[in-house]
Amino acid sequence: MTFRCRLVRVLAAGGTLAASVALGSAPALGQDIKRLMGENFQNVQQILTNLVTANYATIPHDVGIIRDHVDALLQSPPAIVKGREDQTMFRVYASAVKNAANNLIEVTQEVVRRDSERKTAAPPELRVDYLRVSAAQYFGIMVTGCVQCHNQFRRYIVKLK
Ligand code: HEC
Repeated sequence: MTFRCRLVRVLAAGGTLAASVALGSAPALGQDIKRLMGENFQNVQQILTNLVTANYATIPHDVGIIRDHVDALLQSPPAIVKGREDQTMFRVYASAVKNAANNLIEVTQEVVRRDSERKTAAPPELRVDYLRVSAAQYFGIMVTGCVQCHNQFRRYIVKLK
């Protein structure tokens, strides 16, 4: 069964399938969305590891991949997103992830820059910097955006291989 069939079945079972208006023009991502999401999932885990172990250098790159993926979603929402209301909400969730990702990149770059100065702590000790906490908060907001979108548009359990 295709994802589309499954989703329609799940939504219909929940009784929440909104009367949909065909919007037509946006090209569908199709199966490509699974690849993008798989990479999002891997990156999220890597970013969490790096935030918790204070290895900041590669975080902007990894977050940038997620940001680019949600950009792709914004430019061409998958075919299952139908009707004006669904289109709007899909964009709201994707934009929330994009915004948090951009902020996370900015904050992490600043942490890396400040760590390279190490004005108040002798290497290898890191100085106290509350931007690390801010980075973790943006990570939380980003993951909240993933789950917000899945809560509405990905309503079945992902089986991990
Ligand atoms: C704007 C909506 C949206 C956002 C934001 C979003 N996803 Fe998804 N995600 C989807 C949809 C829709 C699917 C179902 C794709 C399919 O099965 O065709 C999906 C599927 C997945 C899957 C399962 C892929 C598979 O092979 O079945 C994973 C894992 C995933 N997303 C991770 C993430 C992570 C991590 C984030 C945040 C960084 C994220 N997603 C953000 C909409 C979103």
